[in-house]
Amino acid sequence: MRELSLHIMDIVENGLRAGATLVEIFVKEDRKGNWLSVEISDNGHGMPDETLKKVMDPFFSTRSTRRVGLGLSMFRELCKRCDGEFDIKSKDGEGTKINASFRIDHIDLIPLGDMAGSMMSLIMGNSEADFLYTHEVDDRTFHLDTRQVREELEGLEIYNPQVVKSLGKLVRESLADLMEE
Ligand SMILES: Nc1ncnc2c1ncn2[C@@H]1O[C@H](COP(=O)(O)OP(=O)(O)OP(=O)(O)O)[C@@H](O)[C@H]1O
Ligand SMILES: [Mg+2]
Repeated sequence: MRELSLHIMDIVENGLRAGATLVEIFVKEDRKGNWLSVEISDNGHGMPDETLKKVMDPFFSTRSTRRVGLGLSMFRELCKRCDGEFDIKSKDGEGTKINASFRIDHIDLIPLGDMAGSMMSLIMGNSEADFLYTHEVDDRTFHLDTRQVREELEGLEIYNPQVVKSLGKLVRESLADLMEE
């Protein structure tokens, strides 16, 4: 994968496949400290300890459509290569939380990529789930909470094309503002 946003989408999809109704995504860019960290947590069905021990094995997957599961192992691999720490915690019946950090100036770190596009496709493709996306760059923060968006929609659905268009624009512009120095 060429973008972190695609890895993030993959991890979020694991949670959605586990029946999550809320997925929280926290991206923190500490540019001065030279660390990028990503935290993704979901309230899906989680994993029992035996499964959790196996998930980092690229040949373990509970998917029935294919035998290998690469999402987590690839993400961890990238994180380790970039001098970062990787951690996964899960409670059977409660949910899962993944933390990963990356040294920003590491030569192997891939670009963050199109977070706005990734968030919008997650939102459009999973209208029954909610997302809380927080993106911090040093001391500035952007929040997107689909529960709050739904409240403000007054009867319109979040996947309504007009809503998607204006929400996408808002997210894209806010992130662009946040990213610039
Ligand atoms: N958030 C989660 N909640 C519950 N189970 C999870 C979660 N994330 C991963 N798993 C379990 O770990 C396995 C491995 O996940 P991983 O993302 O590495 O591969 P995959 O999702 O099976 O396949 P791929 O990501 O390549 O499409 C999954 O099949 C699933 O059983
Ligand atoms: Mg996966």
